[in-house]
Amino acid sequence: MTEPKPNLGKRLHVKTYGCQMNVYDSERMVDLLEQDGYSLSHGPEDADLVLINTCHIREKATEKLFSDLGRLRDMKVERQDGEQVLVAVTGCVAQAEGDEILRRAPVADMVIGPQSYHRLPELAARARQRKSGPSAPGDLAADFEPAAKFSALPERREAPGPTAFLTVQEGCDKFCAFCVVPYTRGAEFSRPVAAILAEAERLAERGVREITLLGQNVNAYHGAAPDHPTGAARLADLAYRLAKIKGVERIRYTTSHPNDMTDDLIAAHADLPQLMPYLHLPVQSGSDKILAAMNRRHAASDYVRLVERLRRTRPDLALSGDFIVGFPGETEADFQATLDLIAEVSYASAFSFKYSRRPGTPAATETEQVPEEVKSERLVRLNDLLDAQRAAFNASKLGQTLDVLFERVGRHEGQLIGRTPWLQSVWAEADPSLLGEVRPVAIIDQGPNSLVGRLL
Ligand code: 5AD
Ligand code: SF4
Repeated sequence: MTEPKPNLGKRLHVKTYGCQMNVYDSERMVDLLEQDGYSLSHGPEDADLVLINTCHIREKATEKLFSDLGRLRDMKVERQDGEQVLVAVTGCVAQAEGDEILRRAPVADMVIGPQSYHRLPELAARARQRKSGPSAPGDLAADFEPAAKFSALPERREAPGPTAFLTVQEGCDKFCAFCVVPYTRGAEFSRPVAAILAEAERLAERGVREITLLGQNVNAYHGAAPDHPTGAARLADLAYRLAKIKGVERIRYTTSHPNDMTDDLIAAHADLPQLMPYLHLPVQSGSDKILAAMNRRHAASDYVRLVERLRRTRPDLALSGDFIVGFPGETEADFQATLDLIAEVSYASAFSFKYSRRPGTPAATETEQVPEEVKSERLVRLNDLLDAQRAAFNASKLGQTLDVLFERVGRHEGQLIGRTPWLQSVWAEADPSLLGEVRPVAIIDQGPNSLVGRLL
């Protein structure tokens, strides 16, 4: 491990938008900059470097970014040392709209796409140097270099707490017609097994008990494994290997594509007690016509059959999903098919979105766009059904005794907050020494967003 440089008094503020992978990336960029002598500031007001990690998945991301950048420009004018403050824009908006950001917002000193984060210290040093000369345009780094990125990011120094994300794969080759990910994150890339196991071992040594494996299409994972007969390990192999690490009590993975739920992965849900019985498996729509137009490459009935198989394998498995309403061409009957699928599958939790037109994706040029008010009205109906299913799922746990991993202290004295195997939040009176421990908890009540438990 490279020794960090002494704290040079440089202060860093990071604002993160979007998915869990952005959260992971932001943490790793902090690690990288800490090696370079930075420490976290209280806010943008006392930072020497402000980093905005952006998300491009739905509309308005760019406008949000430009209003953030406008506020930073004002702050720089107001602060006495404002001229010296560096601003970095990272993430998927940086990748997709880097040139425009540099053109429209001279306050941005660096614009860095998700595959180029390893260049951050070098670009920050260069930008700092530019500050002593006449004003010059910022730098853009938008190459696709996932292998270089992952091998350059340093190991985590701080214990992240009892749960941690671990990115195992990035990018996607599925090209769903609505989605920017294949363009902003690039082609599917899987990290080698050895690097992932090493990272997981260090996390476990530092007290992490639950690891969530992240990837945009995580179950397409196929990382190099020299000792594997095929030379590459799939996600199930990886899960078996992770489960052998001392201290790793819970394993999750997200986000999965139905077509990559391979037999070995399904079987792992029966064999591996560490693999939690909760699966985020987006279907997006219940209409075969819309699924085809989305380029999802499966029918609604394939998905329902897959869920049945998963539940036969692991009867207590609960599902979460993503849904898009108002994809171009979606009729009331198509939407009804989505409601029917939801009624048939029954979700413990879900995320639902109005279709958002993303320039550069095939669906953006479809002529049959659904009017905004129709999308809004469908989203309300969809959410009513999903909310009712979530409440019913939570209610089904009342009176049961569940294993809870205590993750953090609660708002009230003497309380800890933890999670069930199904990611439900539970609070209970418990001693702080139980943080990081899995304990049986009787579920005695249900609040709007959490369960109430009594430690046994
Ligand atoms: N419009 C609406 N929702 C989208 N998603 C991805 N792209 C779009 C889009 N253009 C949703 C999908 C995906 C989740 C991460 O975001 O449901 O599973
Ligand atoms: Fe986007 Fe997921 Fe489809 Fe890949 S599988 S293109 S990440 S929605």
